[in-house]
Amino acid sequence: GKDGYRHFMEKELHEHPVAIGQTLQRVTDPVTRRITLPDFPFNAAELPRATISACGSAYYAGLVGRYWLESLARLPVDIDVASEMRYRAPPQPDQGMALLISQSGETADTLGVLRFLKEAGQKIVSVLNVEHSTMGRESDLVLGMVAGPEISVASTKAFTAQLTVLAALALTFARERGTLDTAAEQELTAALLDLPSRAAEIFSHLEGIRDMARVVAQARDVLYLGRGSCMPIAQEGALKLKEISYIHAEAYAAGELKHGPISLIDQTVPVVAIAPSTILFDKMLSNLQEAKARGGRILAFTDAAGAEKLKDVAEQIVVLPDVDAFVAPILYAIPVQILAYEVALLKGTDVDQPRNLAKSVTVE
Ligand code: F6R
Repeated sequence: GKDGYRHFMEKELHEHPVAIGQTLQRVTDPVTRRITLPDFPFNAAELPRATISACGSAYYAGLVGRYWLESLARLPVDIDVASEMRYRAPPQPDQGMALLISQSGETADTLGVLRFLKEAGQKIVSVLNVEHSTMGRESDLVLGMVAGPEISVASTKAFTAQLTVLAALALTFARERGTLDTAAEQELTAALLDLPSRAAEIFSHLEGIRDMARVVAQARDVLYLGRGSCMPIAQEGALKLKEISYIHAEAYAAGELKHGPISLIDQTVPVVAIAPSTILFDKMLSNLQEAKARGGRILAFTDAAGAEKLKDVAEQIVVLPDVDAFVAPILYAIPVQILAYEVALLKGTDVDQPRNLAKSVTVE
């Protein structure tokens, strides 16, 4: 049941800290406290390339995964949505890895890519919530996210659990490929293990997100901006808003704003910024100043240091716990999903069963 929550989505949003925590438990050695994954069906040090494919939110998790695999493990990654990957038919290296990401393990497009890449000689690694699924049976290795059942059509906790597995994968590959020293590995692992507590803190400050929701609920169009590993979080935010509140939203890499979409900006188009204090923050800040100068209403998710710099730029700021830039996409996904939920509540839509959508898409 819903355990006293109004919707499964609300319940599942509150399960983010537990989903991340259980997933971490699965991938952490209890004695050494190091991230430890099951043996790979290949030598990670010699892996030439990885291909990632998935649909919807799982694809956005894959985009963050690419960022981590490339930056931490120096592994070249090709990525596309599953419905395009097969037909684009990118050339595959010998002994490459195909990484498929799916909550259900039954999504037709993703399963199609799995079979296509298996045929092309790739080793199949799947990140799945439902491990005993069709994709689970056909994979060489299943990395389970331990999110528990997800009933709400809109994906919530499975998304942060997917990201947690991908972060663990990137750290493991980095260790095996010798691209991260022990001190750095320990620091990033600590940031990851700390995440369930940081995530839980978000739920004691929901008022700021509700204030933001009142602005967003009045809009017809909303822009979401992100940069770097938080760009896919902007995409996730825009997808979730469209999906359950039926408000049109688009995500852009903040630097792309001036190459086109800035012409849309006026008082009626709120701009939601995913802006943790990372090395990209100052660039994001100047993009937001440009948007504000055109009358844009800036709604920002940031941390204490970012809030200080954004105070004259953003109309509303939700201050999130300070975390290492590595785990910021996982933490920031949570308030972004809560925002969509709060907007849907104000709009009075059928949150758990949005129109035209099914939980698992088993046709192409
Ligand atoms: C978004 C959402 C969908 C799914 C997509 C993939 O909230 O729920 O975009 O993420 O249909 O589904 P799985 O992960 O089951 O393959």
